[in-house]
Amino acid sequence: MTSENISRRGLLHGSAALVAAVPAFGVVQAGVAPGHKASERTSMASVGMTINGQDVHLQLDPRTTLLDALREHLHLTGTKKGCDHGQCGACTVIVEGRRINSCLTLAVMHEGEEVTTIEGLGTPDKLHPMQKAFIVHDGYQCGYCTPGQICSAVAVLDEIEAGIPSHVTDDLDHVAFSDVELRERMSGNICRCAAYPNIIAAIRDASGHGAAEDKA
Ligand code: FES
Ligand code: FES
Repeated sequence: MTSENISRRGLLHGSAALVAAVPAFGVVQAGVAPGHKASERTSMASVGMTINGQDVHLQLDPRTTLLDALREHLHLTGTKKGCDHGQCGACTVIVEGRRINSCLTLAVMHEGEEVTTIEGLGTPDKLHPMQKAFIVHDGYQCGYCTPGQICSAVAVLDEIEAGIPSHVTDDLDHVAFSDVELRERMSGNICRCAAYPNIIAAIRDASGHGAAEDKA
């Protein structure tokens, strides 16, 4: 047996392993991912999700992030790509009620799940209360981080309401609403324009706790 035969067999085994790795999503066709050479063939996967209340079905390279599925395949460009490394929070969306960095997760991992992006929270004619509050309190300047900030903020209020503690929670039996809690929980959302005080005021206002913290 020649080394050429061995390497050909190894290649066939490798291809079979790749196909077996994605059975849950059904391999529907062999294709070439955009930007890849014909020699780099990839099995495509089908994934179904509910995005902003609408059922969508996509055929994707299984390596596609949720962020790229939203932006490049569904043209939901409200969700931003900042770092693509899980460091800035610009890509934050809400999946099954929890906020996540969509650049850090593969779309195929969310089969059957419910995804909410900034487009699903409100529209220009019917803003979500958090969107309204960001406008009222100037919670942005360039606006690039804003969709992620707003998705995060909406989920933060739900987390506090549900009594989920953070790293700064003193009493695990009672999660108090405070600026310290908000700052800690929003710390994964970076704002290059440093609109942080206005963002906190907006979240407080949307929560019904008043825009300014009571210092008394
Ligand atoms: Fe996802 Fe920065 S783009 S965290
Ligand atoms: Fe410009 Fe936040 S408003 S980065």
